[in-house]
Amino acid sequence: MQKISIVGAGRVGETTAQILAEEQLCREIALYDVREDVPEGVALDIFQTAPFFEFDCRLSGSNDPAIMAGSDLVIITAGFPRKPGMSRSDVLAANVKIIDEVTDHLMAHAPDTTVLVVSNPVDTLTYRVAQRTGWPRSRVFGQAGVLDASRMAAFIAEETGFSALDITTIVLGGHGDTMVPMPRYCTINGVPVSNFIPPERLDAIIERTRKGGAEILALRKNSSAYDAPAAAVAAMVDAMAHNRRRLMPCVALLEGEYGEHGIAMGVPCVLDESGIAQVVELDLNERERADFASSVAAVRADIGRLAELALDAG
Ligand code: LAC
Repeated sequence: MQKISIVGAGRVGETTAQILAEEQLCREIALYDVREDVPEGVALDIFQTAPFFEFDCRLSGSNDPAIMAGSDLVIITAGFPRKPGMSRSDVLAANVKIIDEVTDHLMAHAPDTTVLVVSNPVDTLTYRVAQRTGWPRSRVFGQAGVLDASRMAAFIAEETGFSALDITTIVLGGHGDTMVPMPRYCTINGVPVSNFIPPERLDAIIERTRKGGAEILALRKNSSAYDAPAAAVAAMVDAMAHNRRRLMPCVALLEGEYGEHGIAMGVPCVLDESGIAQVVELDLNERERADFASSVAAVRADIGRLAELALDAG
């Protein structure tokens, strides 16, 4: 990739920029933020780490959205983070306004870009960007499941003592309390986790995964998680930049898969240089199907609020 822009030079945006630079995933990183001087400061600070991390991609920052012109990928991290006790849906009204503004900037300045949405509530905001732009779903998607799956893997590593490198997990559904961790598909190097973890402990891990973001927020108090979210975004960018065709859970617009239309939520996708090359359908068992349906209902409730807020696509 030549150029990646990041909207929002907050903690997630900044940490993402640092990882993308260190991993040399593009030649140019542009940071856009509405706060005066902040994006310039963040870009300069990160660029000054170049000798240590041995990268030569360029970083710049601006309050002018034209800085995003020519982007291959725009990562949207802007928005109000939730405070302890709030759900991701509680920031919908505030963040949809920000997302709409950003979307209009993209249509004006970077009409050919791919868009990766990170701001919350990510499923609903991804849907919103897709509606407003009308761009194909290969180019408009969100990050959630890669982070949720990494949290689940960390909990399984803690529980079993096995290397985190050997743990494969998958989490589907909306990025909220109704997300759907899929223990049936979780393995330690191919061996089902049920070989090592009794059912009640596995249930506790599933519950902790669902509340993974809230756990970090409660501990950090004045900040949501950002290290793991940024690393999850970088893993998706790496898959695209290297055309790897990795199978990763992404927030994707559903076009009949899993029996759903007119919704974006976490499903397994193939990520390559085109973005989402394919949505993969899994055969769900009865419990998984019920959990997935609850998650669909929760995301649909938020999507319904878009209209209620008189903010529906216009
Ligand atoms: C989390 C927030 C960022 O899951 O959604 O940590």
